[in-house]
Amino acid sequence: MRKNIGMKNIVLTGFMGTGKSEVSRELSRVLGWKVIDIDTEIEKSQRMKITEIFKQFGEPKFRDIEAEMIKTLSKNKNVVISTGGGVVLRQENMDALRENGVIICLTATPETILKRTGNNNDRPLLQVEDPLKKIQEFLKFRMPYYAKADIMIDTENKTPFEIAEEIIEKVNK
Ligand code: S3P
Repeated sequence: MRKNIGMKNIVLTGFMGTGKSEVSRELSRVLGWKVIDIDTEIEKSQRMKITEIFKQFGEPKFRDIEAEMIKTLSKNKNVVISTGGGVVLRQENMDALRENGVIICLTATPETILKRTGNNNDRPLLQVEDPLKKIQEFLKFRMPYYAKADIMIDTENKTPFEIAEEIIEKVNK
């Protein structure tokens, strides 16, 4: 399999809990590329956790910080970029990421997403009474945005390794 000859950045998008972090680590291992995790970079630059940024400044301010970070970091080459689930909402983010990269969207069912996100409270948008209902609502609203990706990958019943291999295969086609 041709792996990293003249390939574009691999950009992972998708809702919370679709496996972006795990799959980006797997891609990094297989390709020998560095991972840039947008949320981690935001937390480093703000010296604050994402939940704290939401609490102190609100979501619109977080989205501005996120867009700035993407503008800067999408200039890198030969990297895997893992994005936060809301990055797709701004067209300017998609344009910047697409300049050097191919945009992948990982998908999963609401039930799987709940299972994968249920154990921690570091996702401010899911700290609600009925997270499953919230996930369903978010997915319905965001689906047209996620659908703007170049390649969609269903992650149900697949290991991160299998998903990484599927991505590389489809990118190389
Ligand atoms: C968000 C997803 C989170 C994080 C923030 C907002 C979203 O990232 O950026 O809590 O709007 O879907 P993950 O998708 O990595 O959990």
